[in-house]
Amino acid sequence: MARVVVVGSGIAGLVAALRAAERHEVTVVTKGTIADGSTRYAQGGIAAAVFSDDSVAAHVADTLRAGAGLNVPAAVEALCGDGPRRVRELIALGVAFDRDGQGLARGLEAAHSSARVLHAGGDATGAEIERALDAAVRRAGIRVLTGAYLRDVVVTDGAASGVALRLADGTETQLDADAVILATGGWGQLYAHTTNPAIATGDGVAAAWRAGALLADLEFTQFHPTALRLPSGDGGSRVFLVSEAVRGEGAVLRNARGERFMLDAHPDAELAPRDVVARAIAVEMAAQDGLPVVLDATALGADFLARRFPTIDAACRAAGIDWSREPVPVTPAAHYAMGGVVTDIQGRTSVPGLFAVGEVACTGAQGANRLASNSLLEGLVFAHRAAEAISEPWTEVPAWAAAPGSAGSAEREVPDGDEPFDRARLQSLLWTGAGLHRDRAGLQRAARALASLRMPAPGEDANLLQLGRLVVAAALSREESRGAHFRSDFPLPAAGTPRHTVLAPLSVPTEVTVPC
Ligand code: FAD
Ligand code: SIN
Repeated sequence: MARVVVVGSGIAGLVAALRAAERHEVTVVTKGTIADGSTRYAQGGIAAAVFSDDSVAAHVADTLRAGAGLNVPAAVEALCGDGPRRVRELIALGVAFDRDGQGLARGLEAAHSSARVLHAGGDATGAEIERALDAAVRRAGIRVLTGAYLRDVVVTDGAASGVALRLADGTETQLDADAVILATGGWGQLYAHTTNPAIATGDGVAAAWRAGALLADLEFTQFHPTALRLPSGDGGSRVFLVSEAVRGEGAVLRNARGERFMLDAHPDAELAPRDVVARAIAVEMAAQDGLPVVLDATALGADFLARRFPTIDAACRAAGIDWSREPVPVTPAAHYAMGGVVTDIQGRTSVPGLFAVGEVACTGAQGANRLASNSLLEGLVFAHRAAEAISEPWTEVPAWAAAPGSAGSAEREVPDGDEPFDRARLQSLLWTGAGLHRDRAGLQRAARALASLRMPAPGEDANLLQLGRLVVAAALSREESRGAHFRSDFPLPAAGTPRHTVLAPLSVPTEVTVPC
């Protein structure tokens, strides 16, 4: 029996804890309350090939198409192949997915070739999953430390041997472990506008980097096309999401002249891949002096909207918008990190004993652009796989991130700047310089400005600054456009085999790409 510490209590952390606790002694640590992650805000649902007219092969093909050539095929096979079984286990655990006269209800989202997205409470899928997992963790008697902030992964003789924590009362402590599973989510709070909650400060990625782990593909931030710019009330830069499933049900996007601009932008119009829709919106907004475009759901009717999307319906009404009668103003916002801590398909990082699962990880499954509703699935599938692998022998990092001699590196420590750190300034620098459209001059400006900021004391702000510098460095190094990474100075994908951007925390700054 191993001592296992799981950091994070979203879908990835709680699933890892539940599975690991079948054989090991598990402690979950989480910096806020149990439900404080992105998971509980998930709206559209979870994708899996569970219907008889669907297939794993079709789900794989859609995931690869959206991923723009950068997906790691073995990870996609694992994601889509394990998906149906893991989703059935979620149902057995008590997750109440919506049903209709045919059985499980199914939603359609962008870039899926068929309706395969299971949802709950209409548009409250994440809240239902989080509720059911929380209840299961309590039933299993798993120890959970809330208000316990991961400061660092402790490394002894090159292997993870525990975690350094700051507890709610301000004291510092250390938990020893045979295995540490990072499930700390993404880093949307790097950006001035994000759908992510305040906890999404990239702590796990920064801690893994300091522990010596490889990171990959940090330049691929997914911008969700349709956020309603309402303050969230939970702090941070979170804005309210209007699910892609609304477009899946038939809502359309219009510019200030009332035109359906997506008809000219892509054959799949509003259901084109997310990066295409987000960039098309940005172009329209630029042409109309920054005014948001609108999402027109009026044809769907008040009853349907209230029944199918109760959370969005309530948020619109609270903002004084009756979306059954008037279109909703929407703009893109940072939503999801395709990159993160390099792992194999069992969640193993390049540091023995350290696993990473869910949004914090880069398995390569999501490629350059995640397919809608594949993220909850990723947390579910790879958390399960990591828990299974705890007692297995450690293996080398996957070949896609470990071509000998060609893995790039970046300096762990950069000379510190002397300008006082200001989170809003950092978020604005990333939004402007490393947002939907990037180019060398803008990225270099952002890099210089980030270098001039003084590193704050260890904590969320320090993690954001460390990560922000790496994101910009990765975006500068990728001189092509692919998926969510669009360089207006290199508007096409580079010829030849797509490359991952792998960052190794050494001290020699060099080129940072290796072949797939
Ligand atoms: P999270 O759920 O974010 O959990 C991270 C956990 O780590 C939290 O418990 C947090 O408190 C903890 N943590 C972080 N840092 C520390 C630290 N330093 N110390 C201790 N604990 C820490 N995906 C889909 O597939 N379908 C959808 O419909 C969908 N809708 C979405 C809607 C919104 C508004 C958002 C924001 C995301 C959506 N996504 C969706 C993406 C998906 O929800 C997330 O990618 C996924 O939930 C991430 O799960 P996770 O377990 O990896 O991380
Ligand atoms: C949404 O509901 O639009 C979000 C789905 C996702 O991020 O996969």
